[in-house]
Amino acid sequence: MKEVSLSLIGFGNVGKGVAEVILNKHQCFKEKYGLDIKVVGITDSTATIWDPDGINLKEALEIKRSFGSLKFWGNEYEIYDLKPSEVVREVDSDVIVDVTNDKNAANWHLKALNNGKAVVTSNKPPVVFKYKELLEASAKKNMPYLFEATVMAGTPIISLLRSALLADSIEKIWGVLNGTTTFILNCMEGGMTFEEALKKAQELGIAERDPSNDIKGIDAGYKSVILHNIVFHPFDFKKAHIEGIEEISEREIREDFKKGTVTRLVALVEDGKVEVRPRKLPINHSLAVKGTSNVALIESDLLGELVIKGAGAGVKETASGVVSDIIKASLKTKYL
Ligand SMILES: NC(=O)c1ccc[n+]([C@@H]2O[C@H](COP(=O)([O-])OP(=O)(O)OC[C@H]3O[C@@H](n4cnc5c(N)ncnc54)[C@H](OP(=O)(O)O)[C@@H]3O)[C@@H](O)[C@H]2O)c1
Repeated sequence: MKEVSLSLIGFGNVGKGVAEVILNKHQCFKEKYGLDIKVVGITDSTATIWDPDGINLKEALEIKRSFGSLKFWGNEYEIYDLKPSEVVREVDSDVIVDVTNDKNAANWHLKALNNGKAVVTSNKPPVVFKYKELLEASAKKNMPYLFEATVMAGTPIISLLRSALLADSIEKIWGVLNGTTTFILNCMEGGMTFEEALKKAQELGIAERDPSNDIKGIDAGYKSVILHNIVFHPFDFKKAHIEGIEEISEREIREDFKKGTVTRLVALVEDGKVEVRPRKLPINHSLAVKGTSNVALIESDLLGELVIKGAGAGVKETASGVVSDIIKASLKTKYL
């Protein structure tokens, strides 16, 4: 049995989802992979809890759900005021799991890799803006840097592109990579205004309180640049052509829908090109997904067309990708 220790940085929706999967499947991972995964550190924006023997995840979840913050958990554990960069340095763990929305997290990802720790993340900006440096540090230290959940949540497009299709030359990737915009467009097809559809998405927890990154196409742009970085070479985000869905005509969406045409926020990734913009599609087209599903259509020289479709967001769906990466990283670091 290999014991693997994690520092979980971020204890919001995804962080709690990851903790729950590790809690519920602990025995299964022991039996299936010979891995005894323990979480030795949990950090939110207010505090770090640290126990080298492993934190009681059930209690951690209860405290966070009841009080909203780890700093109120005083009786059993020491409460530390450690920033992620200090956690990476001070807390002895094999894998750093970043499930924050810290835009500057690349700094401490690099620190972790350089200190000989594997990194798993669902946080997009580091992989968009510092991909080259992170991959170089990962290769130099022979430490995994894994980020499956950054694109299409747990739907394994990153693994597919990084470890399958190795003989193929990828020509293009088309994708519908942002569930919030699809959800809003679906509601508009049914007769709602843009504002009503956005409000419904916010009420259901699909859109964030500040939905601008989704609506303006930035989130889909980040994901497209990550795909470009993997398949071709690092791409400068500033050079991506990005349009959102704010300018779309409600009347046109409704009329097109009656004629069998839908609009989706479609990403196109080619060597040296990243483009995100609304496109009209026949209702039965592979890219014409519904709800919060995501889809990517990969065109390559040998295989031809390949479509991968699945959940693009959600707590357990994102935890699926993060925990899968944790298992991969654990197997790799432990067998080195
Ligand atoms: N939700 C999804 O479906 C989904 C899907 C794919 C990828 N992602 C990505 O996964 C990440 C987490 O998403 P989420 O939905 O879990 O967000 P969230 O609920 O807002 O949680 C973010 C967590 O990070 C913590 N945090 C933020 N900055 C921090 C810092 N500098 N130091 C320590 N902790 C910090 C927050 O602390 P507090 O709790 O104290 O506020 C919170 O616990 C994001 O990068 C998101 O883009 C999410």
